[in-house]
This record gives sequence, C-alpha cells and structure tokens, in this order.
Amino acid sequence: MGQVVNGVIARSKGAPVEVVPVHVPDPGPGEALVQIQACGVCHTDLHYREGAIGGDFPYLLGHEAAGVVEAVGPDVSDVAPGDFVILNWRAVCGNCRACHRGQPQICFSTHNASQKMTLDDGTELSPALGIGAFMEKTLVAAGQATKVSAEARPEAAGLLGCGVMAGLGAAMNTGGVGRGDSVAVFGCGGVGDAAIEGSRLAGATTIIAVDIDDRKLNWAKQFGATHTVNSTKEDAVERIRELTGGNGANVVVDAVGLQETYRQAFFARDLAGTVVLVGVPPPDVTLELPFIEVFGRGGALKTSWYGDCLPTRDFPMLIDLYLQGRLNLDGFVSETIGIGDVEESFAKMERGEVLRSVVVMG
Ligand SMILES: NC(=O)c1ccc[n+]([C@@H]2O[C@H](COP(=O)([O-])OP(=O)(O)OC[C@H]3O[C@@H](n4cnc5c(N)ncnc54)[C@H](O)[C@@H]3O)[C@@H](O)[C@H]2O)c1
Ligand SMILES: [Zn+2]
Ligand SMILES: [Zn+2]
Repeated sequence: MGQVVNGVIARSKGAPVEVVPVHVPDPGPGEALVQIQACGVCHTDLHYREGAIGGDFPYLLGHEAAGVVEAVGPDVSDVAPGDFVILNWRAVCGNCRACHRGQPQICFSTHNASQKMTLDDGTELSPALGIGAFMEKTLVAAGQATKVSAEARPEAAGLLGCGVMAGLGAAMNTGGVGRGDSVAVFGCGGVGDAAIEGSRLAGATTIIAVDIDDRKLNWAKQFGATHTVNSTKEDAVERIRELTGGNGANVVVDAVGLQETYRQAFFARDLAGTVVLVGVPPPDVTLELPFIEVFGRGGALKTSWYGDCLPTRDFPMLIDLYLQGRLNLDGFVSETIGIGDVEESFAKMERGEVLRSVVVMG
C-alpha cells in the first residue's frame, strides 16, 4: 500500500531543489520505515545536486538524519518500531571480500532498501547515499538504522550519520591520532571541525585549524583548535611547521579535497606522518606531487571513507560521550530550518554562514 510524504529532490543537474510528494513503499524483508525527526544539510547533498557524484537524477536528498522506526519488514530483528535511530550509509554485508578479511568498516557491498521510492508519475528516485532523508518518512535497509539512546537531541544526533562521523573518524580511526600528537586540519566546515573535535577527544595537544574564512576559524576554536591559520593571509605550511617545532604535524587532515589543500597537507606533515583525505575532490582534477618527496617523506597517505566507522560500534558510543558532555555535537547545529529551506541553506553553506543547517520535520 505504502504512503505519500513530502521529500526534497534534485530533479536535474544544477536545478534548484524542490519539495514534492514521494511514494514510500511499506517495508519489505530486511527493510525499515523511519519517521525522520531531523536531517542535517551536508556539502555532499550539494555535490549531488551539482552532478558531481553521478548522473542518476532525480536524487532524493538528505542523509544525516535521526528519527524513530515506524515499521519493519519481515525478518528484521535488530531494530523495532519505536526505536530512536541514526541512519547510516554503511549497513555492513558480512559477506564481501573486505568483511571476510575482518574489515567491515570498509565493507564493499553495503545494503540499501531494495524497494524504490518514486514520484507521482512512477519515476524512481536515487536516494543520496542510499538514504534520502529530507523526508517525513524514508525507507532504508534495516542495517542502515542504528539504535542509540533516545535521550539525545535528534538535531545533534543525526549529524553523526555522515559529516560529523566522517570528521571524527578521519582523525580518530583513519588518522590514528593519539595522546600528545600534533594535528592540522584543512577546511573547518562540519567535517573539518569534527576532525578537530576528534583530535581533542583522542588527546592531541597541538591542533591547528586552517581555513580561508576567519568566521570558520573562530568556530574551530570552540571544538578544540589550539591555533588557527587563515591560508589567504599566511603560508599555511610554513605556519604549521613553526607551530610544531619546525617539523610539521604528525597527522594532517584535508577536509576540503582540492589539489591546493592536499598539496599543503602533504608538505605540512612531519616525516613519517600521516595525511588523511576526507574532503571529496572534484571529479576531473588531477594531483601532481614531486615523486621523490612521496618516497622521502615516508609515512602514510590515506583516504577516509565515512571516517572508517562501524555504525553499530561507534554511534551508540559517541552518543554516550555526547550525553556525558564530552563530545560537542550541539556546536555543529548552526540553525534549524524547515523542509522547504534546503535550497537557501546551500547558499548559506557556500557563503560560509553555517556549519550545519538542520531540517527539522514539523
Ligand atoms: N569522506 C567522507 O566520507 C565524507 C563524508 C562527508 C562529507 N565529505 C566531504 O567533506 C568535505 C567537507 O564537507 P563539509 O560539509 O564540512 O563542507 P563545508 O562547505 O561546510 O566546509 C568546507 C570548508 O572548507 C573551507 N575551504 C574551502 N577552500 C579552502 C581552501 N583552499 N583552504 C582551506 N579551507 C578551505 C571553507 O571555507 C569551509 O569552511 C566535502 O567535500 C564533503 O563532500 C566526505
Ligand atoms: Zn561487506
Ligand atoms: Zn554527508
């Protein structure tokens, strides 16, 4: 039978997003229907709208969400109606070659709902990151819904579903930041500030925030940046070296994903240090580095998909830290908006006015 609810779609490349009726099927085997309470606006939604991630328009946007399970299909036992959940885009399969090698955090065959959500005319929608949560209700694979403490505020909790988890994990999981480390983070949006927060939690003692916008640098201090560098006003690589005894940082996170920031990150790390790329590069850019330096500097050049997180392990633990006042999730919520305000929130994101606008369902 299914239901019809409002959802935000990107109909074609670059076109403003629209709120339209979306047909959501009842959950089938292995699926869950989730009533969305809050969903953050991530830069990745804008990448989808701009056609930078693929051409499978129309896209159903939104993927940083928390809500309550309304119904589950047959054979679903991990979540039940009434559970407060954060949605994830890593429902681990248990059967692919990564899972078989004991690396479920890079599962190559993650699950999404098998039934499609559609427009009035039957057009099938492509949910962003297999979720699609700027919606009153959405259909996901049950493994995409991770139960956490219902005491958490949905606006804050939902952000763990993508950008904040990606940033926290880029530092804590992929970068392996530890006590006493020095860290530099390029790009202080939601993802970069989460990398700063993660570095603080992991015990880093020097945390250098780099951005081109002073407002972003001020916010970065709230998450634990010990120093800030505006790379339009000073040479970020030189400054990071100065702040780290002339050596460079142990771990450098690129949360922008441009050739320019990656090259800076590469040269701003100490010998045998680690660069973590978590920002998503534009599709047609090539990267040039002096090859002898790649060898001579040693260390590791790593990419972080979703902060190498395991939602079942990390979401409940991070929500517990949040409820204990040790993880600042509230600081990422710049404003709450309605479902009709997503297009405007993209403009605010591009103007650097927000860390996260969060759609709250009325
Ligand atoms: N790897 C993953 O799993 C994953 C998950 C979520 C998001 N992302 C990606 O992470 C990136 C950041 O996302 P966000 O939501 O924080 O975006 P955002 O737009 O909120 O933040 C980007 C920040 O980078 C700064 N910036 C831009 N150019 C810069 C430069 N040349 N030097 C220094 N700073 C610069 C901007 O001022 C801004 O503060 C995006 O590319 C997004 O798609 C990746
Ligand atoms: Zn797998
Ligand atoms: Zn995202």
